[in-house]
Amino acid sequence: MRPPRTDTLLTIAVFLLLLRFRLTFAQQQCDLTALVGDKVTVPLGYSGATEDNQLIWKRGNLTIFYRVDKRVRTGKLGDVTSDGSLILRRVTMDQSGLYSAQVIDRTGLMRHNRVQTLCVAETVYGLLGAEAELDPGANEKIKEIIWKKSNTKISEWKRDKVVYYGRCETGEQCDLNNSTGVLVMKGLKAEDEGRYLAEINGKTPLTGLDLIPLKPVSKPSVTTSCSWTQCILTCVGEETKHTKYSWKENNETVKEGNTLTVEKSGEQSKSYTCVFSNPKSEEHSDPLTEMDLFPDNKGYDMDQEPVLERHSLTMDGWTYEYFVAILVAAVAVTLLMMMLYYCRRFYFKRDDRRRTYMNSFYGKLNLLRIFPPTVEPVELQLCSLATLIEK
Ligand SMILES: *[C@@H]1O[C@H](CO)[C@@H](O)[C@H](O)[C@H]1NC(C)=O
Ligand SMILES: *[C@@H]1O[C@H](CO)[C@@H](O)[C@H](O)[C@H]1NC(C)=O
Ligand SMILES: *[C@@H]1O[C@H](CO)[C@@H](O)[C@H](O)[C@H]1NC(C)=O
Ligand SMILES: *[C@@H]1O[C@H](CO)[C@@H](O)[C@H](O)[C@H]1NC(C)=O
Repeated sequence: MRPPRTDTLLTIAVFLLLLRFRLTFAQQQCDLTALVGDKVTVPLGYSGATEDNQLIWKRGNLTIFYRVDKRVRTGKLGDVTSDGSLILRRVTMDQSGLYSAQVIDRTGLMRHNRVQTLCVAETVYGLLGAEAELDPGANEKIKEIIWKKSNTKISEWKRDKVVYYGRCETGEQCDLNNSTGVLVMKGLKAEDEGRYLAEINGKTPLTGLDLIPLKPVSKPSVTTSCSWTQCILTCVGEETKHTKYSWKENNETVKEGNTLTVEKSGEQSKSYTCVFSNPKSEEHSDPLTEMDLFPDNKGYDMDQEPVLERHSLTMDGWTYEYFVAILVAAVAVTLLMMMLYYCRRFYFKRDDRRRTYMNSFYGKLNLLRIFPPTVEPVELQLCSLATLIEK
């Protein structure tokens, strides 16, 4: 007779083994995970398939792809890759589940059989301090439901009773609807961020909800950089991970992103507004009208002064080009005047005969040949040119 001690040890060992198996199973629940909208490739994991093999893909017991004799009988040609892996283009919650792939040869022999679990999560946004609604998308009558954050129970409906734990335990922080399974969490805090899973009627969930609490956005401001005919508007808001910018011309959204280039159109009442938003809130900048951006000089009044100041500060585009052109012209005229003055003095020092000769056009052209210069030839040529221009 064996001592009872050994029996007890054996029982514990078997229990531990089972527990270990269960834990391992739970961890391996999802072979693939994806977010709603992702493109997912479920690998076939078999490279020995030939063209005359049959290829079958199923989700649960539903055949979604079937190819036999090189012809696709169920699904479309583009549903699998060249190596037979399954492509899910924009994955939805409904597409979570068990995917099985089978490769069968001409003789009807199963060459390959593989089952993989796809888990799909969806992002749910909520505002800090407000409510978030977690909908498990139940498609069967709920007899019991357990809501967990990661691996921690927060709420359950079991044997006609709702029980709340942890975050949901104190006050009236949560509200579980026993017919829809929807869990409403109130007074959202930053630490509520995480993945929530609903176990319905004892089934391990293959879908999850990723809750992201967000701060309401603040009102953005707009800075401008303008020339006479064009403005670049830049919107500045307090940026966080999920914020974005867009622009409205009058009431119509015209562009995404934080900058907008606008052209003067002559429509004085046209207005531009920056919209700064995250998935749960949005704020508008003060609108800027075309009159603000391109004030007409004739219609100048004191109210528009700040805008005009902006124009003179940002000397870009045409304004800058005019400035440079005027400067270049002024320098050129000054140089010409200096040259004429120098040349006059140079020629008046010469004798009369030479001056007479100089006055004829022909003489100017032959100056260098007849009177070998005492100064640099280049200088002389410039002078004859300058006197020509003077005439
Ligand atoms: C497929 O499985 C579901 C349950 O998962 C069952 O209700 C249904 O009858 C099955 N369909 C077929 C054709 O076997
Ligand atoms: C559960 O939700 C449904 C649909 O929104 C509603 O009609 C019902 O009253 C709710 N039940 C409870 C107990 O809140
Ligand atoms: C939900 O709970 C109420 C009482 O709390 C109960 O009367 C009702 O039958 C429950 N509904 C379901 C679908 O279990
Ligand atoms: C545009 O916005 C104004 C007020 O800002 C409103 O009166 C008008 O009806 C809106 N027009 C359209 C087409 O939405």
